[in-house]
Formats: sequence, C-alpha cells, structure tokens
Amino acid sequence: MTAIVEAAPAKLNLALHVRRRRPDGYHDLETLFAFARHGDTVTVAPADAPGFILTGPFASALKQEGHPTASGRADAAKPPFAPTEVQARAPGGSPDNLVIRAESAFRTAFAVTQPHALTLDKHLPVASGIGGGSADAAATLRALARLHDVNLADPRLTAIAGTLGADVPACLLGRPALGLGRGDDLAPLPWLGDIPALLVNPGLAVSTAAVFSRWDGADRGALAGKGDALARAAAGRNDLEPAARALAPVVSEVIALLAAQPGVLLARMSGSGATCFALFRDTAARDAADAAVAAHAPGWWRLATTLA
Ligand code: C5P
Repeated sequence: MTAIVEAAPAKLNLALHVRRRRPDGYHDLETLFAFARHGDTVTVAPADAPGFILTGPFASALKQEGHPTASGRADAAKPPFAPTEVQARAPGGSPDNLVIRAESAFRTAFAVTQPHALTLDKHLPVASGIGGGSADAAATLRALARLHDVNLADPRLTAIAGTLGADVPACLLGRPALGLGRGDDLAPLPWLGDIPALLVNPGLAVSTAAVFSRWDGADRGALAGKGDALARAAAGRNDLEPAARALAPVVSEVIALLAAQPGVLLARMSGSGATCFALFRDTAARDAADAAVAAHAPGWWRLATTLA
C-alpha cells in the first residue's frame, strides 16, 4: 500500500451568527462554511510502528502549542506565532494533536491494528479561526478512509469527527455548507466557483474558548434565508468579532484595511479569529490587495487563494 496524501484546506466562516449559550458550554450557531483551495497537507502511510512528523512553516509553532482542543487554553491571545523561515522538520508534536487523536479514534472505531506513519505539513497559522487543527483532523480521517476502503459517507466517520471538535464535521464534508447547532448540523450548499480570496492574520494565536466566553450573550438574529451563500454572508455578521477585537484590537485594523481595498466584495473575521478574509471581484484586485497588505504590515501572514 502506498502513502495517501490529503489536502486540509483552510476553512472560512463567511458569516457566523451566535444565537445562544447552551448548557453544555457550547453555543448554538448559524454559520456559512466555505473552503479555500490552499491549506495544510496530511500524509498517511502504513508503517511497522506509529510515527508523526511535522513539517512546514508553522511546524514549530504547532509543536510548542499543540492544536487547540475542546479544553481551550487559559491564555487568550498571544504573540507571536511567526513562521519559521526554513521548512522546520520537527519530530513528535503535542500528544493532543488532532491528527494523532483522529488516527487513534479511527483505529478504534474500525478495529484497525495496523500502525500508521503520519506527516502533517503545516502551512496554516495555529489557533487562528481558519480551522487548521480541524482541517488536519478531517484530512486524516479522509486519508485513513481511503487507505482502508471506508466509504467517506460512513456515519462512523462523521461521529468520530464530531468528537474531535465542532468544526471537524464541516471540514470532513469539505464543501460550502450551512452549519447549525454547534456548527456540526450541516446542510451542503452549492460550490462557490473560484471566488478570489485573501486571508490575513496579524500574528496572533487566539483561543477559541476565550473568544466564545467573551460573547456578550445578545442574539442579533438569524442568517438571511434567501439568496446564494455570498449574498447571505454579505447580509450577515461574525458575532465573535467584538469579543476577538477585545482580546486582539489589531483585528479592527486588519478588517478596515481589507474593507478599503478596491474590488472587495466582503471583508470579515473568520471563526473566532484572529484571521480575517476578504473576497474580491477578480484575481487582479485580490493580488493588488495582497501587495497593499504586505506594504502596510510586512510581518502579517497572508494567503492569496480562491474559494472552492
Ligand atoms: O469543538 P472545539 O474544540 O473546536 O471548540 C473549542 C471551544 O470553542 C469550545 O470548548 C467552546 O468553548 C467553543 N465553542 C462554542 N460553541 C461552538 C463551538 C465552539 O462555545 N459552537
């Protein structure tokens, strides 16, 4: 058997309405998920012994931090997460890494005794609202399913995804979707069709749990029910922006800069931040915005991509 290479694309919340706090500590959401064409990569291969290798510009950030987990972390926003200049090759990784947890849950659920060599090529900033850890976990499940001839629609896969994090089912689906409940009650939406997008993170890792805990409790209303995903998103909000701005004021600067760029269709924060995105009418406008952001703040992380 050969190695399976699986993309773990960046997740965006085109809109994210927080409707209520739940007794289980989560929040009921109405959110529009979309996916970029770029992100991390997970490689899975059968092996004699378990192995895990981290590569890529954010490997060392992840090795230090681990993926954010349901327990969250006490420190709410911390600089810096500057990517290493060289392609770091970091063996090991935090034991709560979602790739390792996904592999372990898969082997239990499908009674697989075969160990795997796992490689995570980390290009997305950690704890940044674009689903890096969730995308990696979902890609691991997809790769293992392909390796072991498990149908991607197998409900056991979705069940595992739900135990790994609220965003993991959406990342497993990997296509535009409406997310209700914790964000894991999913209804697929039509593909968006290569909308040029620019993702920008000002160099801050923000704890999802810390941002949710600062939500003010005010239900500002439902997502628009009519129109395509882009129109519904444009009419909507990210209700976590005020909480994220309180923890990381620079988020306001990022959104204002993106919103001021020519040809922008929508500028907003994704998830619990601090990554913000802008969608553009064409790639020339996106690339010009990319250059403008680079000139404004050369240290900010940027990803010029398209929405799938
Ligand atoms: O499920 P996941 O581990 O990704 O969630 C991280 C944290 O984000 C949760 O512990 C919770 O504090 C918060 N969260 C929430 N409501 C959601 C999703 C996440 O409160 N729908």
